[in-house]
Amino acid sequence: MRNSAGALEIGGVDCRDLVARYQSPIYVLDEADARSRARGFRDAYESAGAATVYYAAKAFLATAVAKWVTEAGLGIDVASGGELEVVLRAGVPGDQILMHGNNKSMAEIELALTAGVGRIVVDSFDEIVRLADAAGRLGIVQQVLVRVTVGVEAHTHEFIATAHEDQKFGLSVASGDAAEAVRRIAKLPALAFAGLHSHLGSQIFDAAGFNEAAARVAAFTRSLRDEQGVIVRELNLGGGMGIAYVDGDDPLDVAEMARQICSVVRAECDQAGIETPELAFEPGRAIIGPAGVTIYEVGTVKPIELDDGIVRTYISVDGGMSDNIRTALYGAQYSVVLASRLSAGEPMLSRVVGKHCESGDIVVRDTWLPADVVPGDLLAVAATGAYCRSMSSNYNYLPRPAVIAAHAGNTAVVLRRETTEDLLALDPGA
Ligand code: LLP
Repeated sequence: MRNSAGALEIGGVDCRDLVARYQSPIYVLDEADARSRARGFRDAYESAGAATVYYAAKAFLATAVAKWVTEAGLGIDVASGGELEVVLRAGVPGDQILMHGNNKSMAEIELALTAGVGRIVVDSFDEIVRLADAAGRLGIVQQVLVRVTVGVEAHTHEFIATAHEDQKFGLSVASGDAAEAVRRIAKLPALAFAGLHSHLGSQIFDAAGFNEAAARVAAFTRSLRDEQGVIVRELNLGGGMGIAYVDGDDPLDVAEMARQICSVVRAECDQAGIETPELAFEPGRAIIGPAGVTIYEVGTVKPIELDDGIVRTYISVDGGMSDNIRTALYGAQYSVVLASRLSAGEPMLSRVVGKHCESGDIVVRDTWLPADVVPGDLLAVAATGAYCRSMSSNYNYLPRPAVIAAHAGNTAVVLRRETTEDLLALDPGA
């Protein structure tokens, strides 16, 4: 919202004050928003009959966020030893953590085992051997899920029912690898088979893609029971619930999505003649994405005349592809506004670009900003809470921006801003 001075406020804090105190660019998280989305997911999926909701830490992770989501009743899904360390430092009990990764190192496996991680999702035959070995040595019986590929790839609105085998994740149901993995696990006393994991994709707006996936998982579950006498107690359907980045993005309401997915799974299990396993989900983006805003300061304004006489104004900000790679990497779209003041300026065809040495360094490809934007103005880019800081880099030796939580007019440092000294400290010759 805007305050009486016309400046954007996040969590009750004026964006100009945020920049004055923590420098620009800055990632700001509306703490109340993130917490309420986490609670909303927990409530919606619990009411729909799911047993567990994990927060997918890859979207964004710091100890503060790990605490917010666990206080909201969520578990946490980690995908590396580093993510696991953060979550443990936040004091999250091991049994509330689930670990992913298609190439977990022995050190990561040992860390997970000694931390008492509740579920480890296995992704390859190599890993089954490695994990059983480590668990055996440590005298632990580890609960595992097998990540399966069911040959359904969900995209935003449509889904492509294809044998999508040609990718690195999971063990294929169609090829028999998934069944073989379950067979091998059953023979290993250090591993206990808990169930299956199937993640369809990201930015999914409706439950359509889950129909086919649920049918295939249910059929596979039945075949495990009939052919191996193995019961799938748990079914984790991953994350991927989409959010609105720009006008026209229209994801299904959280509660409705939860109802639809859970009822589809139940229906498919009934159809297959099996009991519905306990259901688990792993949303990341939908919890933290909309809670985040990036504030940049405008540095230069450069009108460029295009062939057809149209003018596009390039507005350079003090960050770019190092703090938000999603536009360059996925062609992602974002909404941006002039944040530090109101303007009566005419809408001007604009492109918000960063300060890196690449022409593809674009933050917002096409937008309309007021024609009177000048250096020193602040711009706010919405819904940057997920996969921006977590995928950020130090390209061109730019220090990564701070992540600040704003709540009821107060601020707290979630991650401090990097300094050039932090970066130089890695170079023994510097
Ligand atoms: N569970 C598994 C096994 C996953 O692979 C992912 C995301 C999630 C849960 C969480 O998905 P979410 O609810 O956040 O969509 N960097 C990309 C997204 C990559 C997602 C990778 N896996 C982006 O910026 O859009």
